[in-house]
Amino acid sequence: MTVNTSITTMVYPQVRREVEQVFENARPYMKPDCRVCRVCSGVNCRVIPTERSGTAERNYTQLQKVRILYDTIYEGGDGSEIDSGIELFGRRFRAPLMSAPFGHVKDFNPNTHFAGDYEFNKALLDGTADVGICGWTPDTLGEDVFTGPLDALKEHDGVGIPAIKSWPIKDIQEKIRLCDEAGVMAIGHDIDCVGLPYLSINGRGKTYPKSVEQIKETFSVTKTPFILKGIMSARGALKALEAGASGIVVSNHSGNTLDQGLATVEVLPEIKKAVGGRMKIFVDGGVRHGEDVFKMLALGADVVMIGRPYIIAAEGGEARGVALYSQKIIWELQNAMRMSGCRTLKDITSDHVVITKD
Ligand SMILES: Cc1cc2nc3c(=O)[nH]c(=O)nc-3n(C[C@H](O)[C@H](O)[C@H](O)COP(=O)(O)O)c2cc1C
Repeated sequence: MTVNTSITTMVYPQVRREVEQVFENARPYMKPDCRVCRVCSGVNCRVIPTERSGTAERNYTQLQKVRILYDTIYEGGDGSEIDSGIELFGRRFRAPLMSAPFGHVKDFNPNTHFAGDYEFNKALLDGTADVGICGWTPDTLGEDVFTGPLDALKEHDGVGIPAIKSWPIKDIQEKIRLCDEAGVMAIGHDIDCVGLPYLSINGRGKTYPKSVEQIKETFSVTKTPFILKGIMSARGALKALEAGASGIVVSNHSGNTLDQGLATVEVLPEIKKAVGGRMKIFVDGGVRHGEDVFKMLALGADVVMIGRPYIIAAEGGEARGVALYSQKIIWELQNAMRMSGCRTLKDITSDHVVITKD
């Protein structure tokens, strides 16, 4: 993966200023639902289809209760000592950070400036690749929402993760076949989509919960590792392990599927205890800065994903906006590592954070 050094070597204040401008540029395209709030905290978020956006808000507020402990007395070397790199499914990345999947752009962003899902996802994949990370691509109603982004993934030699929804098994298997043809590094399956209003009870599309046996059967047609997205308990994580998943995403779909759920950061430690070391643990929900990535890593995640701000970064600056935003997060993560005496990701343990009550 060749990184764009004009971005990866930019100093933080400059990157931050440019990201602010990108977010400002995005405003007209994000109307009417997203107001590009100064803090994307989920409070009164109209992008979330539940009436209260209570789960989304909790993701953010609970994560803010986790605080990082300083430790700058250690043998620091010359400043090049911090390594946030990670190896995943045979690929090396600069940081354990990915953009989350979003479908379908014209539906959630009626004023998008992107021609369609291919173009939107290309911006996300080009931008993340530019700074040495990668992203997920989506699935929802309509063929193009899946195949367009998959074409963009092919242009990146399959470095990224396409998500497939809980359709009838035969339909999922057809999409798995397309993923294998595209040579993707892993296949995602957002099993919690069954609560999305348009795919749920009386929804326009039909998705169904599946048993451990049904998930095993579904993925029996591929050797590509698969990751179940939408796990929110140790019980769920153990079932995913039993089904043969190589990883899970601790996620509540930013609260799109159920209001009044727990925050992802609240369930992460017990999930880590149940399946840590036996499968990769991804997490998303309310992560907004590199310091938040650090906290999630400390509490048990291997990889951290960011959702809504990436939509804004893409709308406001296309691939460059995505690259700048990603670089800002990576810098903040590396700085949190430097400030807490963690030279590599392995050093980031729960001893480096405190969960406060306020
Ligand atoms: C507009 C929108 C569309 C989404 N579409 C998908 C999707 O197609 N597949 C999926 O697995 N998750 C989807 N998600 C969930 C995100 O991938 C991710 O889990 C969530 O946004 C993370 O929370 P955050 O936005 O607080 O960072 C969507 C979320 C939003 C806000």
